[in-house]
Formats: sequence, C-alpha cells, structure tokens
Amino acid sequence: MPAQINPSILSADFARLADEAEAVGGADWLHVDVMDNHFVPNLTLGVPVVESLRKATGTPLDCHLMIEDPDRWAPAFVEAGAGSVTFHVEAAAAPVRLAREIRAKGARAAMALKPATAIEPYEDLLPELDMLLVMTVEPGFGGQAFLDIMLPKIRRTRELISRHGLDLWVQVDGGVSAETIERCAEAGADVFVAGSAVYGADDPARAVAALRAQADAAIARAPWACAH
Ligand code: DX5
Ligand code: ZN
Repeated sequence: MPAQINPSILSADFARLADEAEAVGGADWLHVDVMDNHFVPNLTLGVPVVESLRKATGTPLDCHLMIEDPDRWAPAFVEAGAGSVTFHVEAAAAPVRLAREIRAKGARAAMALKPATAIEPYEDLLPELDMLLVMTVEPGFGGQAFLDIMLPKIRRTRELISRHGLDLWVQVDGGVSAETIERCAEAGADVFVAGSAVYGADDPARAVAALRAQADAAIARAPWACAH
C-alpha cells in the first residue's frame, strides 16, 4: 500500500480551517490534534470543531486524542464524523473495550504510544486495532525536533505486526519532514503526520506530494515491505 500523508491542522490557521483543509486537498487524511491541557500541557479543540470540519471537507479526519479519560470522550468523536480515532494507551482505562466501541461505531481504532511507552506489553491487543501511532516527539506541541531514538520502536512495532500476520498501519507523528520521513518509512511506518513540514511550506499541497514520493521510495526499498 502506498504511503499516506496526514497534514496536522495544529500548524494551520485555526480561523481559516476550511481553507486550510482545502490547501492540502491531495492529503490522505487530515490529522486533528485534540488536547485537554491535562494529558498534555496544551489546549486545542473539541467535538464541535470536528463536526464543522467534517462538513467543510471531503478529506477524512484522523483524530488524535491527547486527553485524559478517552474511554468517555472517544465515541463522541466518531459520532462527530472522525474516520479514525486514536487514543493514548497511557490514558485509557480499558483499551480493548474502547477500541471495540470505536470500531462498532464505524471508525478505525488506533492506539498511541508516548516516547517512553513500549509496544511489547500490548502485543495481545494488536488484533483489536487498525493502526498504532508511535510518537516521535513528546505530545503537546508542533514544530519539535524528531526523536530518532524512536526508530528502534518503529522497527519492533512493524516486526510484531508482521509476526502476527496482521494488517495494521503504523503512524509516526512529530518532527516528520523531508529530513526524517525516509528513516521512518524504512523502519516500518506507512502513515505520516506532518504539521510544520506541510503548513510551513510555501505550497502545502506540493509538500504533501513531495513527502509522499519520498516515503513511497523508502518503503519500496525497505526490508519490512519486501517481506510483506
Ligand atoms: C504533537 C501533535 C502533532 C503535531 C506535529 O503533539 O500530535 O500532530 O501537530 O507537528 P510537527 O509535524 O510540526 O512536529
Ligand atoms: Zn498528533
């Protein structure tokens, strides 16, 4: 499967979200960062904004919930129109029940890992999920430097998925740019969130296409994809 590029609207102009969605019309998904100032030290947007965005764009919405108590709030984001909902395992009280609820409501279910959270304890949960998000910065802000110490975790995550014969997507988020995307793809990522690298570019749509071309080329020569 070709690489997917998900621009993060955290780096967009929040007063012009419909235009900013349009500006990346070739994107696979729009990445929507939901922060509650408790799970992370930043506050962004909630269900009403997702509802409005859903009506304003045909691009599917990939909601990344950086909030406490996702067990309570995640279903509302599916109802608001999210096509994919990602909860943090560090915040979820019952991740299996939550993933099943997200899927039952009709969205893809994804689980995110902060940099200090290992994937191995969650091996048995993989069949319940459609995507794993390996954070490549500490969640909370756009424009941070990529943590290359996360590359081994991306590799181990992809190995676990292959060993179980599953078809999960592996998403990376944080500091993904022309300088770092190829290393992520070679390690096992196939879904790439990019905030500043897309919305900081003169031509965001062109930035999306260029990142996708780089990632596709890197996946084509990656051992994990060849064995697939
Ligand atoms: C950070 C968010 C990211 C952020 C990425 O906590 O989850 O989605 O927007 O921004 P960049 O690509 O600028 O690092
Ligand atoms: Zn994010």
